[in-house]
Amino acid sequence: MRSKIVAGNWKMNKTYQETKSFVKELTKEVKKVKLDNTRVIIAPSFTNLQKASKKTKGCKIEVAAQNMCAMESGAFTGEISASMIKNVHVDIVILGHSERREYFGETNESLAAKVNTALKNKLEVIFCFGEVLEDRKSKNHFKVVEEQIKEALFHLTSDDWKHIILAYEPVWAIGTGETASPEQAQEMHAFVRELVAERYISDVSEEVSILYGGSVKPANAKEIFSKEDVDGGLIGGAALKVDDFVALIKAI
Ligand code: PGA
Repeated sequence: MRSKIVAGNWKMNKTYQETKSFVKELTKEVKKVKLDNTRVIIAPSFTNLQKASKKTKGCKIEVAAQNMCAMESGAFTGEISASMIKNVHVDIVILGHSERREYFGETNESLAAKVNTALKNKLEVIFCFGEVLEDRKSKNHFKVVEEQIKEALFHLTSDDWKHIILAYEPVWAIGTGETASPEQAQEMHAFVRELVAERYISDVSEEVSILYGGSVKPANAKEIFSKEDVDGGLIGGAALKVDDFVALIKAI
């Protein structure tokens, strides 16, 4: 059975001190929640990964990095490698977030290379994709998403897919307060699952968790999470407050 996942993408938020107190409070709260088949993930910035991974040791909160270099090591000033992430006991990395694509020029091709490096280093990948508003308006959204998935992920083997989590994040819904309707999310998730089913054996498409991201908050989470092909959320703004984040965990 595929996992349900609530993942908090902190983006460029929270200092060391803030990370420490957030994680302390969150671990206390998460202990009170019956998680069953649900995974809870937080993704602080690089400088706080080590602290977060230490503080969450032994409790059911996992830690993810928000990005990673495709190269293994060497003269790449300012970059962070997969082995550096693994070295601080972090086993998950978010790749392909729309902010990385938009502001840092990441492409399907460069993301395919990052995915390869991540998997080679035994990092699980939360792979983000999603259309911009113009794509949706011009009814190109399915085509764009299909390209993003095919070009970055369809060279992988069925076994590789055991370490892939998908996150559909329509760019027009990120940080805008505008959420895709539960029906719009379900429609795209089902489309993506079918796409994966056509390329791989059905085990792969049935087992891959597909998260929705884009202005998910306690008030709308239950309805979105209740959809058949929505296996949880990748949350930005609402993941920055313990109360809201715990409410989202409970909503699933
Ligand atoms: P948001 O961000 O929840 O603040 O819209 C989601 C994301 O970018 O992952």
